[in-house]
Amino acid sequence: MDPTTHLSRSALMFLSRREGLKDLATRVPALEKVARRFIAGERMEDAVAAVKELNARGMTVSFDHLNEAVRNEAETHEEVKEYLRLLMRIDQVGARGNVSLKLTQCGLLLDRELALRNARQVVAEAARRGSFVRIDMEQSPVTQATLDVVRALHREFGQAHVGAVLQSSLYRTEADARALCAEGIRIRLCKGAYLEGPEVAWPDKRDVDENFLRCMRVLLDSGLYHGIATHDERMISETLAYAQRQGLARGAFEFQMLYGIRGDLQERLVKEGHPVRVYVPYGKHWYPYFMRRLAERPANVWFVLKNFFQG
Ligand code: FDA
Repeated sequence: MDPTTHLSRSALMFLSRREGLKDLATRVPALEKVARRFIAGERMEDAVAAVKELNARGMTVSFDHLNEAVRNEAETHEEVKEYLRLLMRIDQVGARGNVSLKLTQCGLLLDRELALRNARQVVAEAARRGSFVRIDMEQSPVTQATLDVVRALHREFGQAHVGAVLQSSLYRTEADARALCAEGIRIRLCKGAYLEGPEVAWPDKRDVDENFLRCMRVLLDSGLYHGIATHDERMISETLAYAQRQGLARGAFEFQMLYGIRGDLQERLVKEGHPVRVYVPYGKHWYPYFMRRLAERPANVWFVLKNFFQG
């Protein structure tokens, strides 16, 4: 990463963690307007409407209720209720989709046992409905705890109902990918959205990309159904080429992308007959998610500024 990009990325990631700014940001109409490019809306029904459209265009989805700022046990219970309602709503409207869940939302930073109990409730309900919960991956201090919880849930509910996320930015990820595959756990592979130090992650984007490709090959060799989550055309074409060399059928894995990013590429892959899942976030607490999307691509900041001055 060049120094200017690194600096702007660090600044945006720093801002993403400032709670006071979040309140300010949610009151600035121009920012909210730009955020709508990446977030389906604040209400569950906004996400349902977006999902109906994506399903009609041949994509499946993963709903995500945004809230990384739970402060106490009572708030974690509200998150569980939201996910139980969401799983019910998915069935009611016949949406083709599952859910993604963050363990901090379940109270991971308050008490690990609480997070496991809360996540368990969501996965149990998903299993009862024949659905699936993807446990998102957050910052590296919680990587091990997150994988421990996924393993416990996988032992109880099996690979059809719960899966993990790994980030190719981390040195440990190739070993994690091999271990999880050997245990039969399905993985979403992404590059990693959080700013990490050189003691745990590659500082150079080229290394992150090469590790993505190494881990992709581990996943495709495993015989399990995984998600290759990226908008990077090189990662996608190398994945397709490797799948072809290994003689994998279309549908042996899926591509995953974020709502509002590279819709053209999503459509193209669907047209070519590849399964594509779109991650659809919604909720009032959109600020940190939105700031990570800005940090990924400094050009997005110009988009914000343009909208700000246009009012
Ligand atoms: P890269 O950042 O190299 O971007 C490749 C191209 O994609 C860019 O050139 C641009 O065209 C486009 N692009 C990427 N980001 C963009 C943006 N914000 N705005 C506009 N265009 C953009 N991370 C994590 O740490 N934990 C998780 O659980 C998840 N979950 C997850 C689910 C899904 C379905 C996806 C697709 C991604 C995640 N991520 C994630 C985020 C992931 O780690 C990563 O930060 C982003 O996907 C961006 O990386 P790319 O692989 O797209 O490559």
